[in-house]
Amino acid sequence: MKNQCVVALLLTATSLPVSLLAQSIPSLKDAFKNDFGIGTCLNVSQIEERDPKTTAFIARQFNMATPENVMKSALLHPGWDTYTFEMADKLVEFGQKHNIKINGHTLIWHSQLPGFVRRIHSQDSLRTFFTDHIKTVAGRYKGKVFSWDVVNEALNEDGTLRKSVFLQHLGDTYITDAFRLAQEASPGTELYYNDYNNEQPAKRAGCIAIIKKIKDAGVRIDGVGIQGHWHVGKVPLAEIEESINQYAALGLKVMFTELDIEVLPRNVQGADVGQRMTANATSNPYPDALPDSVQQQLAADYEALFKLFLKHKDKVSRVTFWGVNDGDSWLNNWPVRGRTNYPLLFDRNDNPKPAFYSVVKLGK
Ligand code: G3I
Repeated sequence: MKNQCVVALLLTATSLPVSLLAQSIPSLKDAFKNDFGIGTCLNVSQIEERDPKTTAFIARQFNMATPENVMKSALLHPGWDTYTFEMADKLVEFGQKHNIKINGHTLIWHSQLPGFVRRIHSQDSLRTFFTDHIKTVAGRYKGKVFSWDVVNEALNEDGTLRKSVFLQHLGDTYITDAFRLAQEASPGTELYYNDYNNEQPAKRAGCIAIIKKIKDAGVRIDGVGIQGHWHVGKVPLAEIEESINQYAALGLKVMFTELDIEVLPRNVQGADVGQRMTANATSNPYPDALPDSVQQQLAADYEALFKLFLKHKDKVSRVTFWGVNDGDSWLNNWPVRGRTNYPLLFDRNDNPKPAFYSVVKLGK
């Protein structure tokens, strides 16, 4: 009898129009509306609303969004005096139209830099780029974005500063300078430092040193983003909890800004896009479907994570997934191109996975 009911329910569900089906799925943003914001990153196709069903789905599930690429300097600022704001402006319109707060990502990052910056060899020229970029971009989106990832990924794994073009030419005060310029250009916007693996002790210590340095200079920093690119069965819950407590003790909001849980084998950690792995016969083990055992582990990992986020909801202000569904994820192409990955809560057709239900049941 029970089985017949399940079959009947499935038949009813599958014969519903997709939009109605999407409406019948619980909403993440509603489930956690009293706890923290729920975000996603958005790509060009989503920002341009090329598929109305996807747009409706995003608006129903999320109340915060981060551009996956369109606000990075290579795309916004391709020449010394050339800015291309079209897609970033569309993102802001998308947010206004669908009541979604936008987190700008990112003002200063060593990666995805414009070609002309990679050819700069003088301190003066780099200082000019750095200052103009922050003033122009933060100034344009003043009052239009809720927050900025002012500096992204400035740390090495051991907590020392990454030897980026900014550190080499501008010295170790460049991070504080970036926050000062952002604050001047966009006074009402929340300002964050964002990194991956900064829940790990050594990198966390480096991150805390950055935060203290900014504060000691009398410059504002409102929050710290822990990206949250983790691996199934290995989510570092104890370090995450310790990090929430330590960052919050400095008076900062804590957010999980690029959450996904990798299910495929890999021999590189973190999210350094400069690292690659060679493809071999075993590097794409689930081209057709995720085995049930991994699906259940993924659900258990997400459940444990969200229980932790809820335990610290007074300190955690936002949880953003790095992609709407599995098909969108950057992890299909990193560190090996063309794999079939399953790191998010929705499958390639926006259908909820067991991990979605293990999370959404914890809300409200
Ligand atoms: O736009 C070009 C296109 O013109 C070209 O034909 C194509 C060929 O490869 O590349 C396209 O650019 C790609 C870009 O995404 C836009 O799709 C780049 O190759 C690709 O490397 C780039 O990847 C992005 C990556 O950042 C780059 O650093 C991912 O989509 C994006 O998810 C990822 O996001 C980062 C966060 O910003 C910071 N934290 C880590 C996270 C994951 O790496």
